[in-house]
Amino acid sequence: MNCKVKAIFAGSFDPITNGHIDIIERASKMFHTLQIGILINPNKKSLFTIDERVELIKKSVSHIDNVEVIFFEGLLVEYCKQNDIKVLVRGVRSSADVSYELQMAHMNKELCEDIETIILPTNTKYSFISSSLIKEVLSFDANIENLVPRCVLEELKKKR
Ligand code: PNS
Repeated sequence: MNCKVKAIFAGSFDPITNGHIDIIERASKMFHTLQIGILINPNKKSLFTIDERVELIKKSVSHIDNVEVIFFEGLLVEYCKQNDIKVLVRGVRSSADVSYELQMAHMNKELCEDIETIILPTNTKYSFISSSLIKEVLSFDANIENLVPRCVLEELKKKR
């Protein structure tokens, strides 16, 4: 859409799901470059290492030209300032997500006036998917092949 604007879709992606892919495919059409920023969320117990997540995301988005996968630590808006990123992309699945996303958007706006947050509602067919629930049902041997990319499914099976 805008020929020069760089955006970032940041998250823990532990692991990336089809819901994330939906947001990435749609957001990548709106910006010149979309970075997928992997961050460690200290409030969440992780299953995949950062290197594994980078690899899985790269494989899962290899069909999209203008996407870059990166890992960093620290404040998201600081990374954006240093890398000329003007837009934060976030996905929401339900009204339950909205208040958390608004709180983060307001905090990020307070920290950096020049950076905007764009919140995309997820496709309804993915509205129940979360990385946490994927990990939970996997531990009971559930079939999740419609919920994550194939490469993620294969790696999840190895972790079971
Ligand atoms: O996928 P998640 O875990 O919901 O993503 C949350 C994430 C990683 C985007 C958020 O915790 C974050 O931005 N962390 C980086 C540190 C930071 O900037 N915190 C202030 C957020 S308002």
